[in-house]
Amino acid sequence: MPVIFGKAPGKIILFGEHAVVYGQPAIAIPVLDVTATARVTPILGAAPGKVHIQAHDIQLDTLLSDLPEDHPLAAAIRATLQEITPNHTPSFTIQLDSTIPISAGMGSGAAVTVAIIRALSAFLGRPLPNERISELAYEIEKLHHGTPSGIDNTVVTFQKPVYFQRDEPLQTLALSQPTYWVIADTGEKTPTRETVADVRALHDKSPETCDVLFSEIGQIVRDARLALSQGDLENLGALMNRNQVLLQELQVSSPRLEKLITAAREAGAVGAKLSGGGRGGNLIALTPREKVSQVEKHLLEESAVRVLTTVLREAA
Ligand code: MEV
Repeated sequence: MPVIFGKAPGKIILFGEHAVVYGQPAIAIPVLDVTATARVTPILGAAPGKVHIQAHDIQLDTLLSDLPEDHPLAAAIRATLQEITPNHTPSFTIQLDSTIPISAGMGSGAAVTVAIIRALSAFLGRPLPNERISELAYEIEKLHHGTPSGIDNTVVTFQKPVYFQRDEPLQTLALSQPTYWVIADTGEKTPTRETVADVRALHDKSPETCDVLFSEIGQIVRDARLALSQGDLENLGALMNRNQVLLQELQVSSPRLEKLITAAREAGAVGAKLSGGGRGGNLIALTPREKVSQVEKHLLEESAVRVLTTVLREAA
């Protein structure tokens, strides 16, 4: 039997995080420069039901039967087995590798889940369509994040820029010209589960105030979609900066994020904001092409632990 691979990219949210959990739209893009890979190999000669998991990045080398029900890797494997061969588990090793930074707001959890479902469903003889992969991954996302919107599993499964709104058909983005997005890691982990829960607590305490913030973020996302289709960099930058102010008001920024966001703007980015759950993880800075190197350099000088520039352009 051949070795079967499944892959999924990282992601970055350009506009609309947190408000998207409450039904507002958000824009996210895949980051193809980083990837999660799952590799499934049969264990020949073993009795059925032996599932060996190796994830060196997180020092995990174990049998599926030794992991708790709610472990996200185990849950992704069990959900796929249940979907395809509910009455029979063959013996196999699944190896997981990822170059997506963990707890950095780049969708590493969702990408590993999608890679597992993709590889394992193919190994079991019934590769699942993207719609079903994303649905199954959404169930696993709940273990990672509590009450996710579904944007992470959607963008890493479909691997294309998305205008996402909960319970609405997926919409793609029209783009007029390539745009350059510098992604910089603060080096602090983003506790997405915690920030999503804290925003929920804030919303429970002051629903009217939060709903006003969410609506304004929603309007920013709609305006950003139009600005992307027109290639209007100045307007996009201003919309990012305003989105960041609203995220501060939702209390999900951090001193380190603020410092690096300011550094990106000083070095020539037209706009910058945190991306993902916040209080750490990555920021994103929209940068004219000719200023990308100087923004990257300045962010590293200001002690960003990693920078990566991704280009958003119409898919070929
Ligand atoms: C996390 O990548 C984005 C959040 O909006 C949570 C979610 O949408 O599930 C913070």
